[in-house]
Amino acid sequence: MKYTLITGASSGIGLKLSYIFAKNNHNLILVARSKDILSILKDNLQSLYNIDIKIISLDISGEKKAFNLYETIKKKQLKVDILINNAGIGSHGEFIKKNIQTSLDMINLNIITPTILTKLFLQDMLEAGSGKIFNIASTAAFQSGPLMSVYYGTKSYLLNFSEGIAEELRDRNIKIVTLCPGPTKTHFEKMDRIEKKFLKNFHIANPEDIARYLYKNIDTKKDILIYGNLNKFIIFISKFIPRKINLILVRKIQEKK
Ligand SMILES: NC(=O)c1ccc[n+]([C@@H]2O[C@H](COP(=O)([O-])OP(=O)(O)OC[C@H]3O[C@@H](n4cnc5c(N)ncnc54)[C@H](OP(=O)(O)O)[C@@H]3O)[C@@H](O)[C@H]2O)c1
Repeated sequence: MKYTLITGASSGIGLKLSYIFAKNNHNLILVARSKDILSILKDNLQSLYNIDIKIISLDISGEKKAFNLYETIKKKQLKVDILINNAGIGSHGEFIKKNIQTSLDMINLNIITPTILTKLFLQDMLEAGSGKIFNIASTAAFQSGPLMSVYYGTKSYLLNFSEGIAEELRDRNIKIVTLCPGPTKTHFEKMDRIEKKFLKNFHIANPEDIARYLYKNIDTKKDILIYGNLNKFIIFISKFIPRKINLILVRKIQEKK
């Protein structure tokens, strides 16, 4: 039996991904820290769909915990054919004023964990001869983000890391895709509020929109998926704006908060 592994399945985009993959008959391994929420989610999904669901309630942030998740799945002898590295956190404020642990937590969950999980499950997928990995970055990955510098940096890493591997895997039957959502109404919203304030007059996506978009593109040949025409347009246009000007614009907008 094959499973789709979704990290950060207890809320936001991960929760909606769980529903759409379940609806499309994927067996699921759902991971997050909130055990009660995962149990309710499992019951809900199993009452709706005839699939097998395993829930794993774990903190997966950082090296030891990421290896621990992989070992837990191996011990249960579960085969993962789709991995979705979705769990991620953000925090805003001047880097120098933030507690260093906040930055390290972000680097651990947004960089270290998906790097390790990509490596370990990719090895298994190569042995099995097929598989897909979706790494959830952000439109923040395409630029620097003063007042959210570490978050933007983590998402830039995830995009560049995943895109590099996508090229390395070009001739294999394994696909790695980076999904870049723009601002989305989730719990993450509180942390990501500067970006949302800037874009308050534009469409803010629902997590269902992002989940549906990913599933619609499950067999994509593209390495990068950017959700929404406006996000695509902004990312395209920003290539023609000098970096310094981009930085000043983002900083000015963020200072208005
Ligand atoms: N929302 C946006 O505006 C937006 C925009 C672009 C990109 N994204 C990206 O989309 C992804 C999902 O974000 P979201 O908006 O859906 O956020 P969310 O609603 O806050 O959900 C985050 C998920 O990650 C899990 N999680 C957090 N820390 C964890 C840990 N240490 N170990 C295990 N699981 C952990 C949370 O579950 P527990 O608390 O139960 O552990 C939760 O299920 C993130 O990578 C984010 O950077 C979000």
